[in-house]
Amino acid sequence: TQVEKGGYKHFMAKEIAEQPAVLGDALQHYLTDDGLNLPSDLDFSNISRLTLVACGTAFYACSVAKYWFESLARLPVEIDVASEFRYREPPLPTDSYAIFVSQSGETADTLAALRYCHEKVAKTVAVVNVPSSSIARESDIALPILAGVEVGVASTKAFTCQLLVLASLALKAARDRGHMTEAELKQHMEELRILPGLLTRALDLDETLNIVSNDLSEARDVLFLGRGAMYPLALEGALKLKEISYIHAEGYASGELKHGPIALIDSHTPVIVFAPHDPLFDKTVSNMQEVMARGGKVLLVSDRKGLEIASEGVWQTVQMPEVPDLFAPILYAVPAQLIAYHTAVAKGTDVDQPRNLAKSVTVE
Ligand code: G6P
Repeated sequence: TQVEKGGYKHFMAKEIAEQPAVLGDALQHYLTDDGLNLPSDLDFSNISRLTLVACGTAFYACSVAKYWFESLARLPVEIDVASEFRYREPPLPTDSYAIFVSQSGETADTLAALRYCHEKVAKTVAVVNVPSSSIARESDIALPILAGVEVGVASTKAFTCQLLVLASLALKAARDRGHMTEAELKQHMEELRILPGLLTRALDLDETLNIVSNDLSEARDVLFLGRGAMYPLALEGALKLKEISYIHAEGYASGELKHGPIALIDSHTPVIVFAPHDPLFDKTVSNMQEVMARGGKVLLVSDRKGLEIASEGVWQTVQMPEVPDLFAPILYAVPAQLIAYHTAVAKGTDVDQPRNLAKSVTVE
């Protein structure tokens, strides 16, 4: 089927805007009135460990999910990029599951990692956008992310849909393992169901982020900071920015700032901080203040409460809707994507087909 830009200047812009709709589709599939719609033979009760493997943006989706599996389901998670995993001969417990996340389902390294796991683990699970793909076919269980065709090389809607499927898996794991009551599950399902509406509101920040991005497009280096599950989101924000705007960007765990990257701070280096007002907020803010004390210019992405507390001295603020702590990374993906998009447009790069990159990397 021919996919069109439908009035948008780029596929990436269209795919960012589609997120409330496709997330809604995925929610409808995985969350029903009776509970989670996941295969019953995917039973986490007696599983000792989970291995998550992917490349690129899909790897950052896994990195967020690690926080969910560990905190909700008390399930130890090992995680690696496929190109490392496949060669380091990792020992895998037979009572473990291995999950492979891939938009295309054809990434060579991820496929090789999956083949390595066959016969070694209790089950292999694919989280893919293309149900007919090699990774889907060769896995014991394939879960579609239902994002629809993604054309832009930089992955956007696939990322949020991958997160939704992984969140559903984490909730199932928590239930299976006796770490979540039925009532808690229902509550978390409600939290997931409000996400499309929240994403729509985040998309309304498009013009604000466009203006900020004009300034960002002048930068040589940009730093992204986050804590907890916002840390992998900082990594994803940096990846998006470098992929399509060619500006050097790094994502860092806020608390790790003082162990190196703080040396880079000067008045020319924008620092983008993802910090919803959650239990880790104060810690992140104190790292942010260390940046400002050294003349760094901070773009703080937070919610009303967070901005009330911490806006002073900040270069730019972006006010996000309030969101349940657990699923904030799904919402904060939107400003991360829009910042990269508008910065790239301001720089005049080829947003949908960035130089040297391919949508699907089917060779090693
Ligand atoms: C390429 C794409 C990225 C994508 C990565 C993994 O590098 O440019 O956007 O995240 O491959 O692709 P996959 O299809 O396995 O998710």
